[in-house]
Order: sequence, then structure tokens, then C-alpha cells
Amino acid sequence: MNIAVIGAGYVGMTTSVAFAAYGHHVVVVEHNEEKVKLLSQGYLPFYEAGMEDMMKQQLKLGQLSFTTSIRKSLKQAEYVFITVGTPSLPSGEADLSFVEQVAQSIGTFIDDYKIIIMKSTVPVGTGKKVQEIIFSQLQKRNVDIPFDLVSNPEFLREGRALKDALQPDRIILGCENDRAKMKMNSLYNDFQSKILFTALNDAEMIKYASNTFLATKISFVNELARLCENLNVDITNVAKGMGLDKRIGPDFLQAGIGFGGSCFPKDIKALLAFSAANHVPFQILQAVQSVNDSQVEWFMTNVANTLGDLTNKHIAILGLTFKPETDDIREASSLRVIEYLIQNHAIVSAYDPKGIDQIKRIFPMINYAQTPIGAIEGADAIILVTEWKELIHLDWEAIKLKVNKPVIFDGRNALDRNRLVDLGYTYIGVGVKG
Ligand code: UGA
Repeated sequence: MNIAVIGAGYVGMTTSVAFAAYGHHVVVVEHNEEKVKLLSQGYLPFYEAGMEDMMKQQLKLGQLSFTTSIRKSLKQAEYVFITVGTPSLPSGEADLSFVEQVAQSIGTFIDDYKIIIMKSTVPVGTGKKVQEIIFSQLQKRNVDIPFDLVSNPEFLREGRALKDALQPDRIILGCENDRAKMKMNSLYNDFQSKILFTALNDAEMIKYASNTFLATKISFVNELARLCENLNVDITNVAKGMGLDKRIGPDFLQAGIGFGGSCFPKDIKALLAFSAANHVPFQILQAVQSVNDSQVEWFMTNVANTLGDLTNKHIAILGLTFKPETDDIREASSLRVIEYLIQNHAIVSAYDPKGIDQIKRIFPMINYAQTPIGAIEGADAIILVTEWKELIHLDWEAIKLKVNKPVIFDGRNALDRNRLVDLGYTYIGVGVKG
């Protein structure tokens, strides 16, 4: 198949590389010329495990190409994916201006049948709006060109995006007619995943419902962790016990210092905004947001209660990205941790395998180390914020000789607590004590 993907961001690139790997011809449209140049040379502007290599391979095979011209991309392609960003407006609503611009261009340039597939995360009703925009452009041109609009939300997890794109758990297809269903079935013919056909609006809601439900699980377990701590109950055992029930499942029950990233916080805001606009204030979701907003504060109060006055105390932060295996720091808990420590006049040193350059732009005033040991040396306490494998498996016995005081705050309940306690560390997790 010939596919055009409009928007070379995270979702667009992952989608493109995956379809190219399935043997389709993919042309990616990106308005930034410099970015197109770099992408065409095989450089990916973000880190995602395995992606750059696969992209280079597909470029070499001629399955993948880049252009700045939507018009050109539409010449060949029958399938047109929209993968542009939908950032939050100050009101929390999703900003649809990029989506609308792309719809205008599609309506302006198409000259034969296209199936237009919305992958950007968009509020319910956007697909219909896009349909109208394209339709009115065609009317202005006084042409009658058939097209179908499909909602096909993405469920990619950063750090595992390629695997999620190549072998998704499920493929959701909001289609309004049999022609679109048939076309989408043949596009996904080689995928081994479950396909669910729904109406356009249903598919759009499935995306928000899925992300905000996962966030709800996390905030539930995080608030429970606060209670567990007061009652001397171990949240990790509670989560394990809950997760054994198939109806609950073990995933997304890991208590921690809060969720971040470019998706959960943004999608919660958007769903809150469009539920309020529809006069159904989403009360559970308001609580999910407020628990997450206060989770770092709650955790750092624990830190301050344990260490006393933080002035001139040397605190080492391990892990800065919003989760492991990514260089993304958007809405990362580390941002609030650093802010808290600066406000309380601590001396901060930090290490992360991929996130230092980005955090440095926001906090140039703290110390950054090239190695975990560099950050930890002489520390009065260590805070693990992101559970990178290399940080979990540090040589904690050797580290004990390098710190000023062996105190660890485990913001992800990821470290081997018993071993650390045996080694003589003071260990404090989230809803667990050493
Ligand atoms: C999330 C969804 O998991 C994807 O399905 C979705 O496609 C994506 O958003 C999106 O909308 O694009 P992502 O943001 O990459 O993916 O990251 P997650 O793995 O979901 O983690 C989000 C945050 O929750 C991280 O900060 C993580 O540390 C935190 N988390 C996760 C917990 O605190 N506890 C858990 O048990 C799980």
C-alpha cells in the first residue's frame, strides 16, 4: 500500500517505521525543512529503543521517504494518516489547530479517493469536524472526490513504542461504512492483533478512556500508599495481592512518585474539559489529577521529615526522565523534586542516562554528573526518581562507602529494599518502609 503520514513527531515516526517494516511504502510529511533533512539522513530527533536502526534500514530499502509537501505526498498515497500534535490549551482543551490545518490541506489537494486516518489524540467529535472541513474544501473547489474518515487511536508506550506499533494488543477502528472497513482490514491484514470496529465517536472516546483509566489505577494505588504508610502496611504486597485477581490485573498498580509524560496529564485535562463542556463534571478524574498533583509534595515532605532542615544538604537524584527508556522529561516528577530541593536550599546533583541535556535547560543551577557515582559521591541522601535498570542494579555495597550518609528514598519502589537494609541503608519507599 502507499501511505502518507502527516506529522513526523513521536506517533508519526513510530507509525511510519512500523508500516514500512510491514512492507508498505510510506512517505512522511513534515513542514520543518531542517528536520526533513536530518530524518532523510537517518537521524531521529528523539530516543526510542531500536527505532533509529529500523528507520535507517527502511530508508535504505526505499520503503520510507520524507517530504515537506503535503501535496506531493497525496499524489501516490491512498491511506493518509494524521499524526500531528494536539497540545493542551490553557483551558485544558486539546488544541486542534494543527489537525484542522491538515484537514484544510487534504481538502485542497486530493484529486482521487483517499482514506484519511486520524491517529492524533482528539476529543470526541473531531473526526466529524475534520470530515466537514475536507468536504467544504472540496465544495469550494467544486469537485466531487470520495473519501472516508477513520479514527484509529494509538496506544504506544514510550520506550516500547516500536513493539507496540508492530504488535499492538488491539487495533481500534472507528469507521462509518463498509468501504472504509474493507480498506482498513486490508491495511492491517498482516497484523496478528485483535481488531475492533466501532463508530467514529466511540473510537475517539476509547483512547481517552484507556489513558485516563490507567492513570486512575495509578492515582488509586498512590493514595492507598499514603494510607498504608500511616498504618504500617506494605503497598507492594497489597498491590501484588490485588493484581492476582484477574478482574483487577497486576499492571499499573506500582505506587510511586506520580505519573508524568506527554499523554496522561494532557489527556486527563482534555477529558475534564470536554466532560465539563458537556455538563458531566468527571469527578473521579478530578481526584486522579489532584492526587497526582500532590504526590511529589507528599513524597518530599517525607524526605524533609526524615532529613530535617535541607539547607546545604547534598541530595543526589537518580533518574530524571518521566519513565525509563526514553529521553522525554515532559511532566516528569523530577522537575518538581528539583524545584522543591532548590526552594529548600539543598545542594543537588543529578544523573540520568538520557535526560540530562533537557533538564539542564530548565535547571542550569544544579550539578549534573556523567555517571551515577559522580552524582552520589558525598551525598546526604539519594532519591531514585526514575527506575532505569542501570540505576536499580548499581553496586550499592560499594556506594555505601562513597556517600556521606546511607539514606535512600525510593520514588518507584524499585530497589531491593531488604538488601539495602541489610547493607545498613535507611530505606524509605512509597507506602513501604525499610
Ligand atoms: C501512555 C499509555 O500507556 C499508552 O498506551 C498511550 O498510547 C500513551 O500514553 C499515549 O497516549 O501516547 P506513556 O505515556 O508512554 O504511555 O507511558 P506509561 O508507560 O503509560 O507511563 C506513564 C506514567 O505512569 C509514567 O510516569 C510512569 O512512571 C507512571 N506509572 C506507570 C506509574 O507511576 N505506575 C505504574 O504502575 C505505571
